[in-house]
Amino acid sequence: MRNYKVGVAGATGAVGREMIKMLERLDFPVGEIRLLASSRSAGKKLVFKGREIEVEELSPEWIAANDLDMVIMSAGGSISEKYAPIFRDKKVYVIDNSSAWRMDKDVPLVVPEINSAALSKDKHIIANPNCSTIQMVHALAPLHRKALIKRIIAVTFQAVSGAGQKAIDELEKETARIVESGFTEKKLPGGDFPPFPRQIAFNCIPQIDVFMENAFTKEEMKMVNETKKILDPRIDISVTCVRVPVFRGHSEAVNVELSEELSVSEARKLLEKEPGIKVIDDPASLKYPTALDADGELETFVGRIRKDESRANCLWMWIVSDNLLKGAALNAVQIAQKLIDII
Ligand code: A2P
Repeated sequence: MRNYKVGVAGATGAVGREMIKMLERLDFPVGEIRLLASSRSAGKKLVFKGREIEVEELSPEWIAANDLDMVIMSAGGSISEKYAPIFRDKKVYVIDNSSAWRMDKDVPLVVPEINSAALSKDKHIIANPNCSTIQMVHALAPLHRKALIKRIIAVTFQAVSGAGQKAIDELEKETARIVESGFTEKKLPGGDFPPFPRQIAFNCIPQIDVFMENAFTKEEMKMVNETKKILDPRIDISVTCVRVPVFRGHSEAVNVELSEELSVSEARKLLEKEPGIKVIDDPASLKYPTALDADGELETFVGRIRKDESRANCLWMWIVSDNLLKGAALNAVQIAQKLIDII
């Protein structure tokens, strides 16, 4: 098999570091790896397959001077907007983890278990969906194939790592401060908790990203629009996204209305057969997945599957996955694996 020249842009970030580990863990055929970040990190060293690799500064000049087959980007939306077209013009495939390109009609938005058929040799920018969208559509796709989904109502409980390394540092800092006060100071003074709009330690924040004109947040609208693009534009969907003081692993309470009756045991069977899904669902022995169970794991976990007794053809389910893995780095590397079959 051929080996590929792979770049990781945003390599020093929370997702970027996982991208490097995923390339290793999935044994992606890497011939040469280049690690890119801002000038702040140039010269730092990161480890790939036991070897130290120096981080280089991403710039138009770097792209012009170097040849890559593909680049996996997780450096933020504005960086992707600027650099993805420059890579594309050099026929480098870009798998982009930001939201910059996801809704572009010429850009495939891919969860490989669902729609890898959207990939094509001539589409050089490929979008990796939002973390909360990936795990939800991954778990809903097998139900949709069997009994078309009409409507989804979801509430998310999202880990701080979804907001990057600064967010992880902020939760650690706030928590340490409260613990060090001997819990006398549970509500921290001052209104400044960047990158969060409120204190995140021992709190839940019903705002992820900015508010839109319709009073939903941008994160909520990403889930709505991306689910339609990946799964089916006919699905009605409404979401509330909440940030919770969890380091890793997004949890989602999802109510799904199907076009016909699907029993809990049928739904469970469909999910058990689906690649990458693990059902942990036994209320009698108190078995269900939590964010801590998903931390570091590759699967999307599903539990609490139950009939919504208030409405026909509706099921509730609880979907949990590591937001940095299936929600980001793993899905991106799985896209790369599908891509090399067609390029
Ligand atoms: P750096 O470490 O040099 O700032 P996170 O989402 O965890 O905050 O990570 C963001 C990633 O994007 C980091 O690797 C960061 O690199 C990178 N990044 C930020 N700004 C730029 C830029 N202007 N050019 C290239 N990479 C960038």
